[in-house]
Amino acid sequence: MKLMAANWKMYKTRGEAEATARDMLRLIGPDIPKDRQVLVFPPFTAIEAVAKVFEGQAAFAVGGQNFWPKDEGAFTGEVSARMLADLGCSWALAGHSERRWVMGESDELVGEKVAFGLAAGLRMVLCIGEKIEERRAGKVEEVLDRQLEKGLAGLSRGFATETLAIAYEPVWAIGTGEVAGPTEIAHAHTHTREKIVRLLGQKAAATPILYGGSVKPENTSEILSLDNVNGVLVGGASLTGESFSRIALA
Ligand code: G3H
Repeated sequence: MKLMAANWKMYKTRGEAEATARDMLRLIGPDIPKDRQVLVFPPFTAIEAVAKVFEGQAAFAVGGQNFWPKDEGAFTGEVSARMLADLGCSWALAGHSERRWVMGESDELVGEKVAFGLAAGLRMVLCIGEKIEERRAGKVEEVLDRQLEKGLAGLSRGFATETLAIAYEPVWAIGTGEVAGPTEIAHAHTHTREKIVRLLGQKAAATPILYGGSVKPENTSEILSLDNVNGVLVGGASLTGESFSRIALA
């Protein structure tokens, strides 16, 4: 199964999101191969509208970009995993680099979110990836290992395979137009695969590992052909149905 994920970040009003979702359904819907699933992560305010467009479409699912890892309580400005599910989300992201580096989320908080989201019945995408200075210092494997160890700390070897995905997103390739090279991607993905199998057991051999960072219609096929790449997580090029449909069908 390949997961073709669109992260709309803080873009689109409800109306804009609904129109883009309709475009995606029209352009991707009839032709999507059976082994592909489209995941769309709209901003909170547009989740319900997008979920309605995709209702009854097995190849399309909706996710939340973030939630706070508690059932409910005095957490001003936050939403819970249950609230996301209530709007129609079956997935959520944790550890996106913008949450880590703009909002200051720690590895430990990311791990709490992964465990909490799974316990709440959501499927989770754990995002990992190194900054450019960490790559220059030869620390890619060290950073990925730490983010995976802490991010998956709440999971047991008995985890349900279909509930987890990892997204490798080198921070320096996000929104920069600078896509990581095939060797860099394949190396990071193979390292991630080996690490999650060590942490979670043989079941993790089937966990999808997505690549994210300046994915475009023109580079998707090559990226998908690399070892241990089981999908993509797309920001900028997922904002129009025209562009994302070419990625989802590449
Ligand atoms: O979640 C998506 C990533 O941040 C990639 O964003 O495709 O705009 O580089 P981008």
